[in-house]
This record gives sequence, C-alpha cells and structure tokens, in this order.
Amino acid sequence: MKKERLMTPGPTQVPEESLLTLARQVTHHRTPQFEALYTRVRKALGVILRTEGDLFFITGSGTAGMETALMNTVAPGETILVLSSGKFSERWAELGKVFGANVLLYSVPWGEAFSPEQVADSLKAHPETAAVFGTLTETSTGVCHPIEKIGAAVRENSDALFVVDGISGIGADRFEMDSWNVDLAVVGSQKALMGISGGAIVAAGPRAWKKIERTPRRGYYFDLLKYRKSAEAQTTPFTPAKPILEGLAVNLDSLLEEGIENVWRRTHRLAEAARAGIDAIGLARTTLFPADSMTAAFFPEKDPFDAKRFMSEMQTRFGVKFAAGQGPWKGKIFRMAHFGIIDEFDILGTLASVELALTAAGYPAELGRAAAAAQRVLVRLTA
Ligand SMILES: Cc1ncc(COP(=O)(O)O)c(C=O)c1O
Repeated sequence: MKKERLMTPGPTQVPEESLLTLARQVTHHRTPQFEALYTRVRKALGVILRTEGDLFFITGSGTAGMETALMNTVAPGETILVLSSGKFSERWAELGKVFGANVLLYSVPWGEAFSPEQVADSLKAHPETAAVFGTLTETSTGVCHPIEKIGAAVRENSDALFVVDGISGIGADRFEMDSWNVDLAVVGSQKALMGISGGAIVAAGPRAWKKIERTPRRGYYFDLLKYRKSAEAQTTPFTPAKPILEGLAVNLDSLLEEGIENVWRRTHRLAEAARAGIDAIGLARTTLFPADSMTAAFFPEKDPFDAKRFMSEMQTRFGVKFAAGQGPWKGKIFRMAHFGIIDEFDILGTLASVELALTAAGYPAELGRAAAAAQRVLVRLTA
C-alpha cells in the first residue's frame, strides 16, 4: 500500500486525534453535550478569526458559506463590487448575478493582487455600492490579497460592507477580522482548520447584522437569522454534520494551544522554505504576492517536458498529490499547501521529489538544490 501525501491546498490531511473522533458511535445533536461542543467551537473560532462577532457552522462546503454571506446581505438590484483575481473570487460575481445584484467588477490578471487605492476609487465612483466581496487567499493563483488595507479603503470611502472569502487562507495566512474592518468572513473546514470536507464557517460582525436584518429573506437553509436564533440556544437550526464539528473542536484546541500568532509564524516559515526550494529549481512561481498557505509554480515550458507525467510521477511514485491549474492556468501550474499538519519533513521531501519527477518528465533538474535551499531557510528562520 502506498502512503498518501496530500499536499493540496484543501482538502488537507486530518490530525490523527481528530480522525479518531470519527470512530465513535453517533450521538444526538439536541443534547447538552452538543451545545457545549458548538459553543466551544464558536469561541475558538472567534480567537482564530480575531473577532468578537458571531460565528456559525453551516453544513455545506465553502461555497455554501459564500452563498450564505451573499444572499443574506445583498437585496436584488443592489450594487456590489467584486474583487476578481482568479477562479474562486470569480465565484462572488457568479453568486451576485444569481441573486440579482448589479455586479461591478474590479479584475486584476491572474497572479496579481488588488490595489487598495483602486478599490477606494471604485467606491468613490459608485457610492451606491452596498458591499465589497474579496478573497484573502486566491487558491487558484496562490495570491494573498492585502485585506487589511482594502478593509481600510472600504471603510474610509464608503458605507459598504466588506465580505471576505477566507476559505483557504484563514488559519494559515494572517487574518484579523475586526481590526481589518471585515464585516463577514467565510472559512472552509477542509483547509487550514484541518477538518474533513463539507463544513463552512460564517462570521458576522455588528455592521453585517444591521444589513442582514434589512435584507429580504431569500432561501431557507442559509438564512443567517435562523442560525443566530439557534445559536442563542447554543445549537444549529438544522441537523449539523456533527462529525465535522467534533473533529474541528480537537483541531481548534490544538491551534489555540499553539497560539494563532505561532501558527502564522510556523506556516510562514514553511512557505519561505517551499518558495526558496521552487526558486532554486528554477521554476517560475505564479505571483509576487504569495500566500503563506500555499505555493504555486509554472511547469517548465521546454520540450519534451510532459506535465501530465510529472503529476502522475508525483502521485504514483511518491504518493504526493498536488492540485493542478484551473481556468487559463489549466495544465500550466501545480499548487501545494503548507498549512495544517504539513511539516518541515513534508516540504523537504516534496521538494526533493519534485526534482526527481521533473527529471523523469523530461526536464532534468539539478538534484539536491531545492531541499538545500529550503534547509537554509529552515536554519535561518527559527521555529
Ligand atoms: C478561496 C476559495 N474559495 C472558495 C472555495 C470553494 O470551496 P468549496 O470547494 O469547499 O465549496 C475554495 C476551495 O478550494 C477556495 O480555496
């Protein structure tokens, strides 16, 4: 049997102590035990997102969280500004159209980051904008956007809400919901929080509530007013995917024990090591604005390099699963994570495997360079 080494920026591998919770017999969710569990998870998430706002668990993948955020805050015909820079941020625009919003786009090319000044200019030109939708880590490109500065630009230049998709970034890339003027944020269970797939967390601050209360109810399952009412009784309005929450509770405890600042520092160190390794191989990374949660790099363009062979070599020979490119970058890039239980050993082994797989796929790499470059970073940056 081959070892599986999931290096994708979600889903990611789940810590063993957390997996073990899945082995326990099913218990009911309308119980004091569940209420205590839900309260513990919500409190821990508040620390991780750095918010005093309300936090809810929604059964459904990250996109369910995005849909929840948008449909609760935007009425038909209202103008929204979508910051679009890749596959996932484009989803905000798609959702906006489905829910009848007048969608303004501020698009940057894939691999680029948004300029807070441009966000400010857009808002000045469109004072009717009800909400701005952004993304912390654009997983399709590996960019981490300057959410803190964008949040300040939104607040200084408008009354619009600021809604952030932190699905893959939160818990790995620095994120401070309240002090960064973020009104609503979404996280996925299967990314840096190391849970199994199928859960979304939605966080809503006081400005968001004012808007949510005024927005016509649309949809039933994702109505945040229902989630808020149930949370007052420490529970969820519908049967939750409780096994996800049980696992998450264990993971969140360990993140809190480490301290979120230390988690960010640890992830940054691994990211720096991965970036140095990729650079040492001579591959071009996708962005000058890299997230710490993941790294993405272009395949060599030289003939006879075979990208499919590279990906399958990584998977079948080394058990390493990378994420492939999407949209315009399909077949052009690979993406790897450095969050969750991914550690120094994984980064070093993966980089060394990348050199061997490149060589097997027709691009002879100079062996040993990537891991050596990463090792130097690991020596330089203290754990
Ligand atoms: C930034 C971002 N947004 C949204 C999504 C969609 O989440 P899901 O596939 O869990 O619905 C993802 C998933 O990779 C993501 O990384």
